[in-house]
Amino acid sequence: MYKIAIIEEFHKAGLELLDKHKDFNYEIINDASEENLIKKLPEFDGCTLRLSKLNSKILQNCKKLKVISRHGVGYDNVDIDFLKKNNITLLITSNANHVAVVEHTMYMILSIAKGIVSHDKAVRDGSFKKGISKIETFEISNKEILIIGCGRVGKSLVKKLQSFNMNIKIYDPYVDTKIITKLGGIKVDNLNESIQNADIITLHIPLNKNTKNLINITNLSLMKKNTILINTSRGGIVNEKDLDVALKKNMIFGAGLDVFEEEPLDQKSPLIKNKKILLSPHSATFTNECKIRMSKLTIQNIIDFFEKKMDKSMVVT
Ligand SMILES: NC(=O)c1ccc[n+]([C@@H]2O[C@H](COP(=O)([O-])OP(=O)(O)OC[C@H]3O[C@@H](n4cnc5c(N)ncnc54)[C@H](O)[C@@H]3O)[C@@H](O)[C@H]2O)c1
Repeated sequence: MYKIAIIEEFHKAGLELLDKHKDFNYEIINDASEENLIKKLPEFDGCTLRLSKLNSKILQNCKKLKVISRHGVGYDNVDIDFLKKNNITLLITSNANHVAVVEHTMYMILSIAKGIVSHDKAVRDGSFKKGISKIETFEISNKEILIIGCGRVGKSLVKKLQSFNMNIKIYDPYVDTKIITKLGGIKVDNLNESIQNADIITLHIPLNKNTKNLINITNLSLMKKNTILINTSRGGIVNEKDLDVALKKNMIFGAGLDVFEEEPLDQKSPLIKNKKILLSPHSATFTNECKIRMSKLTIQNIIDFFEKKMDKSMVVT
């Protein structure tokens, strides 16, 4: 019998798969503090993980732990080097998330370009006609979008944008030009140059030492005044202080953020009061459909791992 720790509960659809399986039992651990995980995790053979951190201090005593199954695709919250050294497998829900993230990205782009929040407020405030004349909006058709990161989300976004008749530029040094051309995008190699021409810039890359603060005051100051910046990938890739300054100085038009340097976002953060930013609480994958897909796949990955029939596309290390 394998013991699985469910670190931070998720949709019950996945847990029902474990309920039906004779070889597994599980315990839900909602207190994901370092202190509690140091105490609890050593008794388990495998665990699931949402956004709480699994560092080496927690992992060093987990001698039974063979597998960590991420409920999601990013894994900046896990000490990868420790996993590699100690032969612990890390799995992700590879193909469960991209549809929801792409739709969330489109929602953010269109909401900002169309002034959705201000228009809604204008009607409610009784300034129906004044609202229309004062709020600046624009079309995305025939505009240039720069997609930074051409993985599962980036690729799937290209398909959606084509129907909006956009000029699609893609920056991803790790993806071959032929693949990008076949998708219908144009590969660019110089980030700072491409940033200067884009009307919309959207980030779909992992957070790591190379991408931390990738978007900062230096390249924000190169962007066009009408640029919309979207980050649905990971907090920390956009420097929040710099973004706040850039928006206050009208260096760019607006920004949409689903992810933050620290989550939950502190109510004292200047981003909270900055009306040029559309905020969401790391909720891109919180559609009814995606919650079920992620839940089932997180658990199926654990079952497949112990039954030695892993789908390689789910394995990080
Ligand atoms: N908001 C959410 O709820 C949510 C949900 C899913 C994924 N995400 C985030 O979105 C990111 C992208 O997801 P994905 O499934 O497309 O990942 P992916 O691994 O399929 O693609 C990431 C792409 O980024 C590229 N890349 C890496 N470093 C780069 C750099 N410095 N410059 C340009 N490109 C670079 C890689 O070559 C790869 O093609 C994930 O890392 C995750 O953190 C967020």
